[in-house]
Amino acid sequence: MDKDKETSPPHFTDNDHMYILLSNLLSEVKGFTEKQLDQIRRLNQIGSALSAERNLNRLLEMIVDEARGFTNADGGTLYIMSDDEKELQFAIIQNKSLNVRMGGTGGTITWPPVKLQNLDGSPNHANVSAYAAITGRVINISDVYNAEGFNFEGTRKFDAETGYRSKSMLVVPMRNHENDIIGVLQLLNAQIEVTSEVIPFSFENQSMTESLASQAAVAITNNRLIHDLEDLLESFIKTIAMAIDEKSPYTGGHVRRVSELTMTIAEKINESKKGPYAGIHFDEDKLKELRISAWLHDMGKITTPEFIIDKGKKLETIYDRVETLKARFEVLKRDYVIEELKKVDTQKKGKSRKKVVNNYEKFTKDLEADFEFLADINTGTKFMDEEMLGRLKSIAARQWNLDGTSYNILSDDELYNLSISQGTLTNEEKEIIRNHVNVTHKILSQLPFPKKLKNVTYYASAHHEKIDGAGYPFGLKGNQIPLQTRIIALADIFDALTAKDRPYKKEKTLSEAIKIMGYMVKENHIDVDLFELFIKERIYLDYARRELTPNQIDMV
Ligand SMILES: [Fe+2]
Ligand SMILES: [Fe+2]
Repeated sequence: MDKDKETSPPHFTDNDHMYILLSNLLSEVKGFTEKQLDQIRRLNQIGSALSAERNLNRLLEMIVDEARGFTNADGGTLYIMSDDEKELQFAIIQNKSLNVRMGGTGGTITWPPVKLQNLDGSPNHANVSAYAAITGRVINISDVYNAEGFNFEGTRKFDAETGYRSKSMLVVPMRNHENDIIGVLQLLNAQIEVTSEVIPFSFENQSMTESLASQAAVAITNNRLIHDLEDLLESFIKTIAMAIDEKSPYTGGHVRRVSELTMTIAEKINESKKGPYAGIHFDEDKLKELRISAWLHDMGKITTPEFIIDKGKKLETIYDRVETLKARFEVLKRDYVIEELKKVDTQKKGKSRKKVVNNYEKFTKDLEADFEFLADINTGTKFMDEEMLGRLKSIAARQWNLDGTSYNILSDDELYNLSISQGTLTNEEKEIIRNHVNVTHKILSQLPFPKKLKNVTYYASAHHEKIDGAGYPFGLKGNQIPLQTRIIALADIFDALTAKDRPYKKEKTLSEAIKIMGYMVKENHIDVDLFELFIKERIYLDYARRELTPNQIDMV
């Protein structure tokens, strides 16, 4: 026997304490019966359960179930006030005898809503639920067939069609803590538990239902508020991600695609029945945390200059400086002609001019070849070997004249950029691009994410980590990299390979991209299990059909 368990005091929650306090007080003061105290306790428990339920549909179902439970009502209907407060919408319909359970988790009810106003604009007092919603009054009727002042034609018609007999009815408006009526709870046919004989709703049950309705109204209001805030947060995050995507015509849509692919991979992991992911399951909260992390993974790019993100030529800053170079070469040509013409011997004009023309043609031919060379290496498509670097340096040293001052034809910065051995980015520019993950981390660290999103900053800013520890910014290794981050990283790489993310870069075909990813797995950069799932489940194919051009899809 567990000794501790035997001797430790019973654990009371706040609600238990409140109940004990309340029941002691009531039994002392008013002499409440044991049954009444039980009901109070039950109501208290229901209140706690309602405020704990986060799924709105389940919450609505729970309200009707519980209200029917303690009043022993055969039927129950829950109406929710529309946003424009002009009608009551059916949210839940339940009837035990008729075996009816509609709305809530079972889907939306398509019955037409109850209008709160008649066609002439007068309040619809004839409908009992509308009346309760408009006036805020409770209606307790022992037999609806004999009730005066309300129109129960619809109920009679329903009874005629189903063979049911609607009799006692309790209609309670649901008023929240802000005193707004947000819905109506309608209970039908209270029954004696043993005989199922229909009886009127007792005064005691009416007060209990009123109390439940007001707790339910607060729970619904809170639930909506939380969902509204969550929706707002997620929409806001997507808006920021879209703004980052919009910064570049080349990387446009990257964040959206990475997020969608990330979620597809996570769903496949959830579906895995065997293999390394058989025991792994992302619940709703974990999926949300992952989705938001993916949407925010390149957040830091908000500060990366566009001319670096999109730098398509070595000489590009906010424009391609090769045009400026061209102008300088033109100046060289003209200066040359002017100088040569000055030397023309007036005595032998014809002969001298011919010589000038010949020299000029040779000079411009060499010059144009040099310029062509510069324009060619400016594209960043060729690897710069020693010979090319030597030629570049000798061209750079050529002099040109501006306002009587002589300069190198290439500035130091232009020479540095054109010397880039591969691609168009200098080491400093690569560092600025890499820095986006530090910025992601810096920005997201400032945000007070709620508890269930507490890992967003970490998952998002670690997406350039590699399994072998060669990644950045943290240099994480192996299992130090959370699965969520590995998923985002794989999605990010696949999108970068298959998208036309730089003006000079041709997008890869599916088989080319997967081949490169295979190498990355061998080099221990990408998670091998994830890559296998990606291939085995053909996750790439659905994505390719959605996002790639038909020319890129060269495998199935
Ligand atoms: Fe990134
Ligand atoms: Fe990315």
